[in-house]
Order: sequence, then structure tokens, then C-alpha cells
Amino acid sequence: MRILILHGPNLNLLGQRETQIYGKSTIDDINTQLKVMAEELQVELAFAQRNGEGELIDLLHEAPDKVNGVVLNAAAYTHTSIALRDAIAAISIPVVEVHLSNIHAREVFRHASMIAPVCIGQICGFGPDSYVLGLWALVKHLQAREEG
Ligand code: DQA
Repeated sequence: MRILILHGPNLNLLGQRETQIYGKSTIDDINTQLKVMAEELQVELAFAQRNGEGELIDLLHEAPDKVNGVVLNAAAYTHTSIALRDAIAAISIPVVEVHLSNIHAREVFRHASMIAPVCIGQICGFGPDSYVLGLWALVKHLQAREEG
């Protein structure tokens, strides 16, 4: 089983960006934490980060040929992008929405997620562990589907 970890805009700056909200972990720290969980779950990971909406959409379009599911932090596009939502709805593999911060406890404009209705679930508020929990949940979901 192979899973894509897809990081959206500005997440390349984690570790230096608004650390009071997002913490000190860098994207590499998060990916390293995910590799530990992946080994435990015996799945392979692929990683990508893009700042552009279109680039994220292209990666989602390509994903079904390469991976079984996606853990996605769409960052600010979560709240704005119908195009990203349509891309998730268009692909045949499950996507889990994750966020470091609890988007529901922040500014009102972050409470809405355009992508939540087309993802299998949303995990937010646990810092880097949101990704780890998202990976765990996605793999369990895929395994349950395989067992069928
Ligand atoms: C975020 C939350 C978003 O509202 C924000 O735009 C981000 C990061 C998070 O991981 O907490 O860039 O997705």
C-alpha cells in the first residue's frame, strides 16, 4: 500500500511561520514522524509540497495511478478552493483532510472547509500528530475496504 502525503501552500515555511499557532516542527520533522508510523503500518509513503492550487490539483489527478490514498493538508485552499474540492471528488481514491491547528477554534473564515464533504474525514488540532492520526485512519480505512 502506498500513500501520498500532500502539503499545501506556506507549509514549506513550517518551523519559522507563526510558530505560536503551528509550532516549531518543520515539514521534514513531520515527514520523519510519518515515516515512523508508516513503518509500523507497513505502508510506503510519497511526499509533496506545493504552493500553487493548480499544482496541487495536478498531483491529485495523478495520484490514483501512483498511490492508494492521500493525506492532505490543503492549508488556506481548504477554505476557498472549489477547484480542489472538485479534484478530490473526481478521483477514485480516499483523501483525509488534516490540519495542524484546530481550524474550528480560529477565525470564522477558517471554520468552513470546502473539501471536508468530499474527504473521508477531517483531523485537526493535534499539531504534527494530526498527520500521523490521518495516516493511521486512512490505512485502517483502506484495509477494511480490502477485507471487504
Ligand atoms: C492549516 C490551517 C489553515 O487555516 C491555514 O491556512 C494553514 C494551515 C493548519 O494546518 O492548521 O495554512 O491548514
